[in-house]
Amino acid sequence: MDPNFWLERWQKGEIGFHQQKVQPALEKNWARLGVGNGETVLVPLCGKTLDMVWLADQGYDVVGAELSERAVDEFFAERGVEADVRNVSGFTVKSSGRNAIWCGDFFALNTELLPAVSAIYDRAALVAMPPELQPKYVAKLAELLPAGRHILLVGLDYNENEMSGPPFAIPQTRVRSLFERDFDVEILDVRDGLPKADHLANRGVTRLEEATYLMTRRA
Ligand SMILES: C[S@@+](CC[C@H](N)C(=O)[O-])C[C@H]1O[C@@H](n2cnc3c(N)ncnc32)[C@H](O)[C@@H]1O
Repeated sequence: MDPNFWLERWQKGEIGFHQQKVQPALEKNWARLGVGNGETVLVPLCGKTLDMVWLADQGYDVVGAELSERAVDEFFAERGVEADVRNVSGFTVKSSGRNAIWCGDFFALNTELLPAVSAIYDRAALVAMPPELQPKYVAKLAELLPAGRHILLVGLDYNENEMSGPPFAIPQTRVRSLFERDFDVEILDVRDGLPKADHLANRGVTRLEEATYLMTRRA
């Protein structure tokens, strides 16, 4: 996807994907991942999600990755904090307390740059990737996550005749085929996502399946 697409979305404030509340699927299922206090959780394509605040409040170091500097600045400004800023290998890294956001292209991250990642949380990240980039995105997740560790992922599926992405519709069979080479895949729950997706209902979506997946990185 052209980076300008996302930069423009943030510039114009067209961020219907941003939720004013922490994801219920995160609160409900996070304990399943067994992440230890003080370990690092990676949030790819993080936007300014409140889910990062919730994760930091649980006692994790939270590392977000986000293209838009405006999103990153809004995240810290809305918390009323001034972020420390450093430059690392082409990324601008802004941090405060347990939250750090690496501003730049997620695909340019690697295990040498990042602290050891103990878990990954993906909401509206895989589905933000066009189909041709999804395998590359999943390969990057596999590269960044050690064996035995988990991803909690919230996926979306809808009738593609009703709307074109992003977010892209990713049926359960497609999620499995993307992840099963490197991960064990378990579906934790499936629900109707339409009641809290007015921005997609307004674009013509009449059925929205929201599924929560637990992925475990195989050795
Ligand atoms: C649909 S939004 C989801 C944001 C967040 N996960 C949430 O739940 O609110 C996708 C985000 O990914 C960012 N993004 C897209 N491509 C990216 C890339 N290659 N590297 C880093 N961020 C990217 C966009 O700027 C946008 O903020």
